[in-house]
Amino acid sequence: MKKLAKYLFIAVALLPGASVVATAAGSTHVESSGVNVNDTASLQRGAKWYVNYCLGCHSISYMRYNRLAKDLGLSEDQVMQNLVFSDAKFGETMDIAMSEEQAKAWFGKAPPDLSLTGRARGADWLFAYLRSFYRDETGGWNNTVLPNAAMPNVLWRQQGIQSPVYRQETGDNGFTRDVIDHFVLTTPGSQSPEEFEQTARDIAAFLQYTGEPVQLERKGIGVWVLLFLALFTFIAYLLKAEYWRDVH
Ligand code: HEC
Repeated sequence: MKKLAKYLFIAVALLPGASVVATAAGSTHVESSGVNVNDTASLQRGAKWYVNYCLGCHSISYMRYNRLAKDLGLSEDQVMQNLVFSDAKFGETMDIAMSEEQAKAWFGKAPPDLSLTGRARGADWLFAYLRSFYRDETGGWNNTVLPNAAMPNVLWRQQGIQSPVYRQETGDNGFTRDVIDHFVLTTPGSQSPEEFEQTARDIAAFLQYTGEPVQLERKGIGVWVLLFLALFTFIAYLLKAEYWRDVH
């Protein structure tokens, strides 16, 4: 019994520590996009950008407007007036009117549904992708994060037009080739570079949220779980002290 109590104590004492370490390890390279899914204002702005500039091509068919309203602290009226431009109803999913065949004919590739992209690619990737469109030599759009992407730079009016500056790089095979070193903004957009960064961050945040809407609750619950474990550790410690008093 004594032994059991001791092991129980050790196991419980280690638990909260273990989860804290796991959280810390899991978040090593997050944050560099500065995305914060608990920032409701950022999610609201991201949703607005999304329905205006992305939903024409990309559905988020796992997401319902009423769920969006609840999670983003919006009323049904606010959602229906500001976020729904189709004949979709409040309880419906965020679908698009374009069929896959039409999309393929227009873009050569159907724009993927972005329901899970926030999870698959991560917010940092999305943040980088949206800021990495540039005008290439052919006069068309290209993207360094997704080279030869079939997607046009839909936010170019906000961002402006950036052109690549190349540098020479020698590969393992001894050949030198031009690689893009950085971009220069050759035509300014309606937003300053800082404002556009925020726009890209808001959209990335929105897609990270839609990738797993329950994460808003999950993270809130996590805090309570840790508090509970801390309290339980304390109780277990008292129990241990009680048992050992008999021994001494
Ligand atoms: C005119 C149609 C169109 C619009 C509008 C559009 N996209 Fe795209 N998007 C595409 C197409 C086509 C692809 C496929 C690109 C490829 O794989 O070459 C794509 C690909 C993507 C991808 C890459 C998905 C993946 O995992 O490979 C992301 C992310 C994305 N779009 C985000 C957005 C966002 C955010 C917006 C709004 C700011 C947007 N798109 C607006 C057509 C569009």
